Amino acid sequence: MNPFSRQDGELLAENVRLNDIADNVGTPVYVYSKGYFESRYRALEAALAPLDARICYAVKANSNLSVLRCFQVLGAGFDIVSGGELQRVLAAGGRPETVVFSGVGKSEAEMDFALKLGIGCFNVESDQELDRLSRRAALLGRVAPVSVRVNPNVDARTHPYISTGLKTSKFGVPAAEAEAMYQRASADPALEVTGIDCHIGSQIASAEPLLEALDSLLELASRLKSQGIGLRHLDLGGGLGVRYNDEPDFDLDTYGEALKHKLRGSGLQLVLEPGRYLVANGGVLLTRVEYLKPAAEDGRSFAIVDAGMNDLIRPALYQAWHGIEPVNPAAEDARRDHWDIVGPVCESGDFLAHDRDLALAPGDLLAVGSAGAYGMVQSSNYNSRPRPAEVMVENGRFRLIRRRENSRELLALEKDLDG
Ligand code: LLP
Repeated sequence: MNPFSRQDGELLAENVRLNDIADNVGTPVYVYSKGYFESRYRALEAALAPLDARICYAVKANSNLSVLRCFQVLGAGFDIVSGGELQRVLAAGGRPETVVFSGVGKSEAEMDFALKLGIGCFNVESDQELDRLSRRAALLGRVAPVSVRVNPNVDARTHPYISTGLKTSKFGVPAAEAEAMYQRASADPALEVTGIDCHIGSQIASAEPLLEALDSLLELASRLKSQGIGLRHLDLGGGLGVRYNDEPDFDLDTYGEALKHKLRGSGLQLVLEPGRYLVANGGVLLTRVEYLKPAAEDGRSFAIVDAGMNDLIRPALYQAWHGIEPVNPAAEDARRDHWDIVGPVCESGDFLAHDRDLALAPGDLLAVGSAGAYGMVQSSNYNSRPRPAEVMVENGRFRLIRRRENSRELLALEKDLDG
């Protein structure tokens, strides 16, 4: 399902006019399609059936409360990486026992918070973290459910910044080290070994590297079993890639079939932590053209828009490609050119796209595509710019799910000017 389609040349989201949203809420604004999120979740669920599987939505991809609520209602659990994300899950009505807690740097305060709530599992990423978790659990009189994040040394063949499963990465521990951690954990009354996990990277194009990682997890699980250490679940992380430009969408059916085949008879519940796959192509960022600076001589042509790298940092940070389309048919005075679409931030790295063949005029509304994942969550106040608003489209209507920040709020935390 593509929720964005044209009617009489005008781009709509689930039949809602993006022009109306921009006129009402202003720009820049993120717009999400709830129907799209639901359809992606159901497709993944269907591909895994009849496996005993739990989909733990990776909160980091898009943590707006209304987005979390959407997945909570669908029956998802949640993958979190901070106490702040856990607060969000609770605020959205998520149940702590459906939460898995990943991340290399869990603080004592974060552990205590999660232990008191009784979350489903701590994905432990180092020897010292295991010690700390044991101490905190013992102190609080709790038993911490534990999975060790294995780094299977598999190349996810993705951008180096979002590749996490190689031995050069800070994430997880090698299988041999994990085995020793399991032996320690299983003898510790403050810990309960429940699972095994990995997450080898993000925006992975095909199932192969994930299945390679699965093989190495299954091998360790069976070694542990022979030592009397039984596991209840296997968490293969997220990472399923999506189409930004001309890449193929991740082949869910192949992945699902292979998972069913490999997990048959294992007695393990499958856990997945998808983020991008569920939300990326259900969102656009709307931005307006402020000025055009056509090329002088053989220079470049710039379309300066009102969204910058502080609103969507993916192009600047990962050289990521996002589709950009005018919401309306070109005006008569539009100028056709190869435009660099750039923001107002004072950095040459502040761009949303390079070299796009478009007919543009000042005031045009543009939709930046595939902005549902790692968009708003990575926004900042750089250049003291208030972060954008967020809107959800549902059943032919739209509603504001996060209002735009204002400049008063940006100053509110700073005090004591003269010391
Ligand atoms: N689980 C863990 C432990 C993770 O670290 C991640 C993502 C996920 C699940 C979800 O991965 P996904 O299914 O979304 O690929 N900011 C980058 C992406 C960073 C991903 C970090 N970890 C971007 O904009 O591309």
